[in-house]
Amino acid sequence: MRILGIESSCDETAASVVEDGQSILSSVVASQMSTHGKYGGVVPELASREHLRAIVPVVREALEQSGTRLADLSAIAATVGPGLVGSLLVGLTYAKSLSFASGVPLIAVNHIEGHIHAVVLETRRDGVLVAYPALALVVSGGHTHLFEVQEGFSYRLLGKTRDDAAGEAFDKVGKLLGYGYPGGPVIDRLAPYGDSRAVRFTFARMKGNALDFSFSGLKTAVLRWVESRGMAAEIAVRRALLREHPQPAVEQWLAVTPQATLDLLASFQQAVIAELLTRAARSAEQMGARSLIVSGGVACNSGLRSAARSAGLPYPVYFPSPGLSTDNAAMIAAAAFPKLARGEFAGLDVAAQANLALA
Ligand code: KG4
Ligand code: ZN
Repeated sequence: MRILGIESSCDETAASVVEDGQSILSSVVASQMSTHGKYGGVVPELASREHLRAIVPVVREALEQSGTRLADLSAIAATVGPGLVGSLLVGLTYAKSLSFASGVPLIAVNHIEGHIHAVVLETRRDGVLVAYPALALVVSGGHTHLFEVQEGFSYRLLGKTRDDAAGEAFDKVGKLLGYGYPGGPVIDRLAPYGDSRAVRFTFARMKGNALDFSFSGLKTAVLRWVESRGMAAEIAVRRALLREHPQPAVEQWLAVTPQATLDLLASFQQAVIAELLTRAARSAEQMGARSLIVSGGVACNSGLRSAARSAGLPYPVYFPSPGLSTDNAAMIAAAAFPKLARGEFAGLDVAAQANLALA
């Protein structure tokens, strides 16, 4: 059974053909990084325009690479939310028209469920049985959520960020310090050169749900640190580098990053990792999780991966491979696989939902 997945919720136009929920026959991702990079974040109007430009060739390429004709498909799956509504509309509308023209049924997929299924796909392919209930930590530019995942894929929300998402914190700190957008990958590569114990960040105690996250205080603490150190000149040097080289190599960044700044980056990353893992471990214990799934763009972070693996948690921890951690369409096709088995199809009147919740 082949499913065509289509993803366009943020700044990636992606299409993929996945067979039996586990074999990725093709996965095409057109990134808009170069468009948004110079603005320091995703510009919604530009994003939808870029999706419009990319959607037809990206889907065509995914079908061609996998040797699949529309008539061979069992379903067409598209992200319906959450995300930028103008971006979601492009992928969803194209999926609807393909479905209408070919008679292949349409399946609506929640983007967050897609991130969780990046892990489900790879474990299924590798013959690994994930033990349920699992705890899923979804950490990306838009989301920081903890879900209880039951066998057969029902979800219960346990905690979420009250302000910024973890990826957003990486991006804001990266932008503030002159590393451009997105900040996560650059900070990840520079952090090993700094001392993560150099700057102490403390998290405010929160009232209410102890499993909720908060990252805005950390971002403000970095801002205060930067202001108190008078770092404007070194930040200007990095912004100039970025104007000359849109994607500098690590050596180029190291050449314009003093040790104190490397220490700051390492300490910041360490604080984010500690916040994520502490709350994940606490909720896993509370719900009696038998495994931990970490997914979303921030799951690429090498510090987070090694910290999770060396934390001595009493259950297995699963991360998607890096290409499936950030936005892609294979995860959307994979999330649609159990829905296909259940006959959970969407009508052509299904609407894009910017704030769609998973649970
Ligand atoms: O899942 P994703 O591609 O898009 C959303 O659904 O948001 O995640 C993108 C986010 C960005 O905030 C980016 O900075 C972050 O993931 N990210 C990372 C790394 N790679 C991407 N954050 C930390 N370390 C990384 N290696
Ligand atoms: Zn995402």
